[in-house]
Amino acid sequence: MKKSTALPAKTVSAPNSGGKKVDTAGPLEAAHIFLKPADAQAVLPVWLLRDGADLASAGGLDTYSKAWLKSLNYKPTARKQVLLPDANGDLAGAVFGLGDGTSGDPCGPSELLAGLLPQNLPAGDYRLAGPSKQVETAALAWGLGAYRFRRYKSGGDGAPPPRLQLPDGSDHDALINTVEAIWMGRDLINTPASDCGPDELEAAARALAKRHGATVSVIAGDDLLKQNFPMIHAVGRASPRSPRLIDLNWKKPGGSANARSITLVGKGITFDTGGLDIKPASGMLIMKKDMGGAATALAVAHMIMGQGLDVKLRLLIAAAENSISGDAFRPGDILTSRSGKTVEIGNTDAEGRLVLADALALADADSPDTMITFATLTGAARTALGPDLPALFTDDAAFGETLMRTGQAIGDPVWRLPFWNGYDKHLDSDIADMNNVWETPFAGAITAALFLRRFVKNTRRFAHLDLYGWRTSSRPLGPKGGEPQTARTVFEVLKSETTS
Ligand code: BES
Ligand code: MN
Ligand code: ZN
Repeated sequence: MKKSTALPAKTVSAPNSGGKKVDTAGPLEAAHIFLKPADAQAVLPVWLLRDGADLASAGGLDTYSKAWLKSLNYKPTARKQVLLPDANGDLAGAVFGLGDGTSGDPCGPSELLAGLLPQNLPAGDYRLAGPSKQVETAALAWGLGAYRFRRYKSGGDGAPPPRLQLPDGSDHDALINTVEAIWMGRDLINTPASDCGPDELEAAARALAKRHGATVSVIAGDDLLKQNFPMIHAVGRASPRSPRLIDLNWKKPGGSANARSITLVGKGITFDTGGLDIKPASGMLIMKKDMGGAATALAVAHMIMGQGLDVKLRLLIAAAENSISGDAFRPGDILTSRSGKTVEIGNTDAEGRLVLADALALADADSPDTMITFATLTGAARTALGPDLPALFTDDAAFGETLMRTGQAIGDPVWRLPFWNGYDKHLDSDIADMNNVWETPFAGAITAALFLRRFVKNTRRFAHLDLYGWRTSSRPLGPKGGEPQTARTVFEVLKSETTS
């Protein structure tokens, strides 16, 4: 294992915090909750037991433990944890029930329920006991479930989390990298807009690039007009925090010359007031998460670079705060997009598709092999599929099928909705080339996806993910709060298509 796979703790000056320095990386790093087998001293076993496991013959469990479990009439039903004392009354380990092999929530194998262990076990060092494939999945779940967001708790880090000895024979670097990518995404989403504006998104992209030897270029403020990103500028211009386009590029060192090109595009609206079409208080409450797409794209990029996929990676983040001032763009305004097409603003709250359209036009000009947008784009996608199931749009049926199947197998699901051609005409405008909304309550997620697709012409394979970016309650794979949904699934599919 490399010395440190954790993001460097970096401080930047937050614009609205009076110049106070703030951390951009949480104090608890993913690498801190994992022990390498060589580092491990006295580690307590946690026995993963499937439904119907015969306790009497469970290898390794000592007689005290067996007697203890028998006296409790323990059955290894899903999620059931029991601590095991030794003859002195000291903690000797635990058993954890996996149920019948499928967890239900999250979807995927029941080993994912092991994310509950770091949430429920007393502090200490543990190892997982069970078949190796099970233990590897459970170790990933442990890492995802152990996350805490304590940056704004004045008490510091709180109780130390239980630590896990990484299983023998698994790829420790890859596992830590995946956990770290998800934690990074969550930290970014959870950080309030006061400490996470376009500037901090840029800092996060630069920190990631530095670590992996990627390059970053940024076009910000009025330069967006000079370099023809008019819609990113229009959406962000009411805020004192300059909008920007962040462009990260990376290629695997020593990778093949004809490696496939993958472009990830993230919606980085660091706060969405709705603009002049202002949102009600209830709709604005968690709009700090409107950069969830950007956080997800960064998480995927961290995995691609950290796990060395042989691809040519481009990551574009369209970052802006959709704010309100005398200078705000207005309903009825007509913007000329980067592509040259004019867009009538039917609603300033449909801002994500505007900033993404300019980023897509830039990216599409390079004809990438694969392009994927990640965006907290519509409330309608949530109405259709709920908060846990991001909507996937792609015209490539095989790619769609693979993403859906993979997502369900690893507990990071997506569900395909159609780019319904028949609705495309609803974006037509009387006086401009198109409108940014269809003024009916119908098919909002599809309409938004179709709007994006109008800016994609040359890309070989395009997919769009409309995600919620938020877990509504604490669950096995993480606490309530920011979640870079679809990051693991997209990475897994890209990895399966690439030799690293
Ligand atoms: N960021 C929101 C979408 C959103 C809202 C995602 C709530 C998750 C939860 C987006 O910018 C937006 O406001 N979309 C509007 C579009 C409408 C004006 C056509 C929406 O979905 O209501
Ligand atoms: Mn909006
Ligand atoms: Zn938005």
